[in-house]
Amino acid sequence: MNAPSAFHGWSAQQPVGRIAYVNGRYMPHVQAGVHIEDRGLQFADAIYEVWGVVSGDFFDEEEHLDRLERSLRELGMAMPMGRDALKMVLRETARRNRVRDGMIYLQITRGSARRDHPVPKSSPRPTLIVTARSIDITDLERRRRDGVAVVTQPDERWARCDIKSTALLPNILAKTAARGAGAYEAWLVDDEGYITEGSSTSAWIVDEAGRVITRDLSNVILPGVTRRVIMQAAASAQLPIVERKFTPAEAMRAREAFLTAATAGVTPIVAIDGKKVADGKPGPLTRRIQELYGLTARKAAEGKSAAAE
Ligand code: PDD
Repeated sequence: MNAPSAFHGWSAQQPVGRIAYVNGRYMPHVQAGVHIEDRGLQFADAIYEVWGVVSGDFFDEEEHLDRLERSLRELGMAMPMGRDALKMVLRETARRNRVRDGMIYLQITRGSARRDHPVPKSSPRPTLIVTARSIDITDLERRRRDGVAVVTQPDERWARCDIKSTALLPNILAKTAARGAGAYEAWLVDDEGYITEGSSTSAWIVDEAGRVITRDLSNVILPGVTRRVIMQAAASAQLPIVERKFTPAEAMRAREAFLTAATAGVTPIVAIDGKKVADGKPGPLTRRIQELYGLTARKAAEGKSAAAE
């Protein structure tokens, strides 16, 4: 057993050396903290964003900022600082944590106030947290090459899944059940028997007619940034994508299946509920979309470095 450290009961094995940005200061994780009555802690009155970082480049940076602004707007919250200042904080947090391949996590809560359900009339100062961590690229590349398994789980989330809220209990329970079943992700099934999305990823299939399908946008799914970028890239490459619902039964008959997210890119799915998708190998359209997404992201990164010169 490790002796507890002086800070928040974290053991010495907790993320020592990692630096978090909290309300204007960069601090080691063991020292960083928020107020005990922060509404993020008390009520999950908070939203978040996640950026993927690949070879030092932030993927889809502006699109994630657009969605961040939208989530805040939907909850009547303001940006805690201007967009450019926020970008500097994201970059500085990545730099201080030496993240070249990994993820940046940002959370904004409504701030701290005496615990009371209504949103306080005079808004407290929002809490802004940014953390960054490296991802084991070997594991990520293996998943992207060989594919992963998913299992279906009931979608027990609230009716505003379009807001990237930190209230993720149903998501974490579904993901935990999936991991317990030896799968990488849970595909969530709504009350009408249709798949909405993964617990932390967007869901896609290639149907029996060879069309790429993903669920249409509404309040039952998060508008995935990777999803959006792929839709645009596919349109420019004359690869049509159909936005519609599909059932687990249709997914099991599909030619291909894959998932997308900032931290997963385009990951093939080779089994659903223990049954192989087609021959159990990543399919050609999934590979094509991986390629398209990679190219788009690289172009965006090159554009950015050209603009900075
Ligand atoms: N998850 N659907 C849900 C429910 C998600 O939580 C996410 C992202 C996505 C994919 O969105 P994007 O392409 O913008 O990453 C879809 C992040 C990565 C997370 O919770 O860590």
